[in-house]
Amino acid sequence: MLLAWCRKLILRFVSIAYPLLVFHDNPCSMMGLTPLRLQFPGKVFQVYSRAGPQVFIPPNLMEEVKALPDSVLSISEGVREFFQTEHTHFPDPGHQEWTLWIKQSLGKNIAKYATIVLESLPSCWQEIEFHPRMCMLVANLTARVFIGPLFPVEWMFTSIKYTGDLFKAIHYIKNFRAQVRFLFKYVIPSTWTQWKHIKTAARVVEYALSRPAAGDAVHAVNKMLPEDKKKDYVFQGRAQLGLAVASLHTTVRVICQVMFDLAEHPEYVTAIRAEIKGVLKFEDKKTWTVENLALLKKLDSVMKESMRLHGGGVKADKPASFRRKVLQPITLSDGTFLPPGTFVYAPTHAISHDASIFPDPLRFDGLRFYNLRKRSPADANRHQFTTIDNTVTYFGAGRHACPGRYFANVLAKMIVVELVGKYDFGLVERDTLPRDVPFEDGLVSVNTRKRMMVRKRVG
Ligand code: HEM
Repeated sequence: MLLAWCRKLILRFVSIAYPLLVFHDNPCSMMGLTPLRLQFPGKVFQVYSRAGPQVFIPPNLMEEVKALPDSVLSISEGVREFFQTEHTHFPDPGHQEWTLWIKQSLGKNIAKYATIVLESLPSCWQEIEFHPRMCMLVANLTARVFIGPLFPVEWMFTSIKYTGDLFKAIHYIKNFRAQVRFLFKYVIPSTWTQWKHIKTAARVVEYALSRPAAGDAVHAVNKMLPEDKKKDYVFQGRAQLGLAVASLHTTVRVICQVMFDLAEHPEYVTAIRAEIKGVLKFEDKKTWTVENLALLKKLDSVMKESMRLHGGGVKADKPASFRRKVLQPITLSDGTFLPPGTFVYAPTHAISHDASIFPDPLRFDGLRFYNLRKRSPADANRHQFTTIDNTVTYFGAGRHACPGRYFANVLAKMIVVELVGKYDFGLVERDTLPRDVPFEDGLVSVNTRKRMMVRKRVG
């Protein structure tokens, strides 16, 4: 056993032939990978953090890495490690029922769900605490789709709060060595909170299942489960919490970042208002559908540019996207050897700030992708907010890339259209808080305390 352990250790640290670029233990480090990636263009490199060595795959090798089967390169094991599922009780990534629901039902019926969302948008909105307001709005809209139109109000608060509490628990759990976490997790208050949320979620699922199905995720996922799990409300509650983590704050952050970008660059507000007017006039309709939202190409471009620069919550120096664990030895075409146990990532933020891919990368160019789409008929359908490729990885990559991105796209667009169309907004001058703040393991989030001036438009 000792020999096996030594072999594992040697494999992890000695036979790794790629450069070890950074040693840092600060989970909230803002140290950028960008200069490091530029130092080794096209090469695999690794970063050492308290989560252990993390290996970054450059875009030129993504194609072959993406194609590896789950038995060789596993998303589930990557998620288990990152979310510390054993200790936090985050839903087991081995169960894919909710992903199936998103792909089979949410994806196909997006127009129907868009209507539900649209009908429940408030007609009057005048707050300046932007992030909390958006959380309430998106939590309300997603709850209607996931839990059903008559969802209990407590679900809204649980779905908002759960993600923050989960990340707190993960943070503290990772302070302990892996071998003792099973014991020390009991002294961490945020792990107790997990149980409170899970209990609420179980109660909400049981209640939702007692009501008629309304195309919601609770009923659809329940149908897919084996008989012995159909009445396991804790299991299904955890699945709903997982869905909330995947969908809520990610989408809220996109909306916040886009609105902050628009407030900083009002010239795009004028362009988007004209585009909205044009589409509604052309369509001779007063309502939004999935089809006419797709005609808002300037807005789409602004959203993608915002995502490129601020990542909608997954912008990261050590990004969340494409987090995988190597289960079987891998040798890449450039000779790089990845031993089992290695955690691999795509350096999303570094790629999106690479001048050889995105010229003048630090500049917010709202029409960057709009202009790229105009280049040729083949480009017209590329470079969209939901498009992913080896240089755009903030929705992940390969067969496990975010299945909810089409829904997030529609949801965020409808809200931004509503806000831009009906409200004037601007930055609060004396508010000098940064827009991006670091949180667990080098991830970066939108600053939830940042304020915005908002007033209803007249005329
Ligand atoms: C703008 C908002 C969103 C962002 C930035 C985002 C980002 C991501 C990322 C980076 C991944 C990991 C993909 C990979 O590792 O290859 C992911 C996976 C996932 N996302 Fe999203 N997401 C968003 C919205 C949503 C929404 C609205 C839903 C639900 C409706 C959702 C459901 C999921 C699920 C279920 C997975 C796991 C897929 C799998 O394991 O196969 N996401 N998302």
